[in-house]
Amino acid sequence: MPLVQLIYFSQVNSNTINLTETNKSILNSAISRNREFGITGVLLHNNNYYLQMIEGPRDNVNHIYSRLHQDNRHKNLQILMFKDIFERYFKDWSMGWASGGLEKYKIFYKYCSTQTLNPNELTGVSAFNLLQDFVNLGAIQNIQKECEFPYQH
Ligand SMILES: Cc1cc2nc3c(=O)[nH]c(=O)nc-3n(C[C@H](O)[C@H](O)[C@H](O)COP(=O)(O)O)c2cc1C
Repeated sequence: MPLVQLIYFSQVNSNTINLTETNKSILNSAISRNREFGITGVLLHNNNYYLQMIEGPRDNVNHIYSRLHQDNRHKNLQILMFKDIFERYFKDWSMGWASGGLEKYKIFYKYCSTQTLNPNELTGVSAFNLLQDFVNLGAIQNIQKECEFPYQH
């Protein structure tokens, strides 16, 4: 089965009451499911948007994306990129996690006209480059188990 990479963004559902708990539960379902499905990638949260890259076997990536569409923790999903790949870029992360804050606003400013994430202004390529900048900054957390869940958002 060919390997593919998908990048999409979505908006946090406006009914969300406790964002920290919501993000924890998202990561919880993502990590165990992704291990099972051979999916790797990163999830970035900032400014009430999620920007996510998912890579893995094409059938599994499509399956996860259809599940994502039915998940009411977010809305207005838009695909930025879907392409064949020969090797994984985010192979170390079942689902790496990153959020804004501190010096990261500079990365957003490089790709958006604002100092927070605005995925409407991104292309597939600039979204990939933005995520790559997070990796290079060492700003992706590798969440392995529940006690490591991030408390900031
Ligand atoms: C922003 C966001 C990112 C998510 N990322 C993943 C992911 O990478 N992998 C995954 O399996 N589920 C992810 N989920 C959860 C799925 O939408 C879904 O709840 C999960 O796959 C469980 O599906 P099930 O109902 O078939 O058990 C994410 C949800 C949200 C809101």
